[in-house]
Amino acid sequence: MKRLLMMGACCLFVFGTSSAYGDDRNVILVPQEVKSIFLEEMRTHLDNLNEITQALSAGDFKTAAYIAENKMGFGHSVREVMQQQGRTDEEIEEMLMKLRESKSRIDHPGRGMGRFMPDEVREMGRVFHDAAAHFANIAKNVATPPTTDDYQRVFTALSEIIDVCSACHSSYRVE
Ligand code: HEC
Repeated sequence: MKRLLMMGACCLFVFGTSSAYGDDRNVILVPQEVKSIFLEEMRTHLDNLNEITQALSAGDFKTAAYIAENKMGFGHSVREVMQQQGRTDEEIEEMLMKLRESKSRIDHPGRGMGRFMPDEVREMGRVFHDAAAHFANIAKNVATPPTTDDYQRVFTALSEIIDVCSACHSSYRVE
């Protein structure tokens, strides 16, 4: 979390600030149509978070893991498109592996919002996807019946996802 906030602080001069209304967050400039898709995706992330907490309160760790992995994990947009195309899980994992390995996202910018974002924001997006993958992994490995320790681990991992949401929001806004 501290590291994330510091990352935000380091970028101040790259983006410039606008504090007319006391809002000194860095501005990410994107085309208007990208902005509305970006904010829509953000609202979906809040829905995803809600679905995860609902699944956890029902003791349904598999569904919580599924949502984090499929809707918040690295390449979730690619995954969604490929699922709609009826591709197999193997094909999807192979494609995501290729994307992960590609040295430069400029060669493989993917389908997600990252391709419109400056490097620093994309890096924070990557931390977000990693936190989601970590959560999914913890949630998948819960014992039956779940122990108190399991619940603690799961909620710690969930709060690590939320930390990244908060860190990004306190550093950036879109225009
Ligand atoms: C990589 C950076 C980043 C991450 C990670 C991130 N967001 Fe955002 N989010 C933004 C930015 C930038 C905005 C626009 C804020 C603004 O312009 O005031 C935003 C806006 C939002 C909005 C407002 C949408 C609207 O219609 O105005 C919601 C809701 C939201 N985010 C939820 C989340 C949730 C929940 C998470 C984590 C699960 C999350 N975000 C993670 C960058 C991020």
